[in-house]
Amino acid sequence: MRFLLLVYLVLSVPAARDVNAEEVDCQVYNHLYVCLANGVLHSVAFEDVNAVQTIEDIELHLESLGIVDIAKDAFLEVSNSSALYIRDNQLSTISRHYFADLDQLTYLDLRNNSIAEMEDGSFAKLRSLETLLLDCNNITAFRAGTWKGLADLRELYATNNNVVLRRNVFRGLRHLETLALDCNEIAEVPIGTFNGLPHIDLLYLSRNKISSLHPEVFRGLGEVNELDLGRNRLTDVSGGIFRHLKNLNSLWLNGNQIVELKADTFAGLDNLLLLFLNSNELHFVDMSAFAKMRNVTIDPGFKVAGTTMNAIWRVQGRFRCNNVEYQLPYECAEIESRVY
Ligand SMILES: *[C@@H]1O[C@H](CO)[C@@H](O)[C@H](O)[C@H]1NC(C)=O
Ligand SMILES: *[C@@H]1O[C@H](CO)[C@@H](O)[C@H](O)[C@H]1NC(C)=O
Ligand SMILES: *[C@@H]1O[C@H](CO)[C@@H](O)[C@H](O)[C@H]1NC(C)=O
Ligand SMILES: *[C@@H]1O[C@H](CO)[C@@H](O)[C@H](O)[C@H]1NC(C)=O
Repeated sequence: MRFLLLVYLVLSVPAARDVNAEEVDCQVYNHLYVCLANGVLHSVAFEDVNAVQTIEDIELHLESLGIVDIAKDAFLEVSNSSALYIRDNQLSTISRHYFADLDQLTYLDLRNNSIAEMEDGSFAKLRSLETLLLDCNNITAFRAGTWKGLADLRELYATNNNVVLRRNVFRGLRHLETLALDCNEIAEVPIGTFNGLPHIDLLYLSRNKISSLHPEVFRGLGEVNELDLGRNRLTDVSGGIFRHLKNLNSLWLNGNQIVELKADTFAGLDNLLLLFLNSNELHFVDMSAFAKMRNVTIDPGFKVAGTTMNAIWRVQGRFRCNNVEYQLPYECAEIESRVY
């Protein structure tokens, strides 16, 4: 082994032109020969190609190696890999050359680095990429050229960053199905943010700072099944803002500051199955908001005159409600007068 490693070192060092042989440290890590110099990943080769191969994938596990940068052609000898796990490192700028040799990747895990910059075209060669994980980095914005080449991407996770949104920011990801942006700095969702994403199925925006939503924001998102807006700052969700989400079956609105549900609040959501409303400040509820939801389960539900309403769509009228405790149903009493 030691001999092999030495041979490998001797063979591989000439490729790392600008580094002095003494600085390069090669080790066997997760069945790979990994050569690093001062945090720069210089080369990766298979130590045991069978050990990194599963039925479907060739997986490169390079977690927690203190990697701050990646040299050109570092992955040349492992270019038939399909999954790269390089999370828990210290990459701060993704350069265009980083993944240029890995054109068969379907899965790229970049979680928990310090990524603040991604050069235009950083993923341009990853034409087969299906899943990109960018959670727990330092990303504030995505540039127009970031998604070049990612027309086949299905899942984009960028939770726990400092992302803000703008119009057309995801354009180019035309097969995207999952978009997770929980726990960012999103205060506004501009009209056209989701332009060019006709196949979004799961849209996660929880734990942001969203205080209002324009009725046209979700236009074109007719395939969304799950929308998580939990733990934002929404106060008013009326005006048919969800009406474009014709296939929605789960909606999280828990942990907001919603005071009132009006008759048109859930217009268009006839197929809703799960609705999370706990931890709001609900005081006024027009029960006709639920009139077309035949199979909905509402968390934490409503009690009228001490009885939990199971078939909420049968209840009519306007109610004044109170939340006694987080997990318990809202307790409501019908408002007799026509004005609140
Ligand atoms: C991937 O490349 C390595 C090294 O070139 C080779 O040994 C292996 O057979 C290749 N695997 C596949 C599935 O192509
Ligand atoms: C993030 O990566 C660092 C190493 O760079 C590690 O010490 C830390 O535990 C990781 N954090 C999480 C939440 O995994
Ligand atoms: C994130 O970026 C900000 C400035 O954009 C910087 O002050 C901060 O130190 C960065 N955090 C990390 C963990 O890199
Ligand atoms: C409600 O659920 C039942 C059984 O789970 C199903 O047969 C029915 O089609 C559903 N109705 C609607 C409107 O989704």
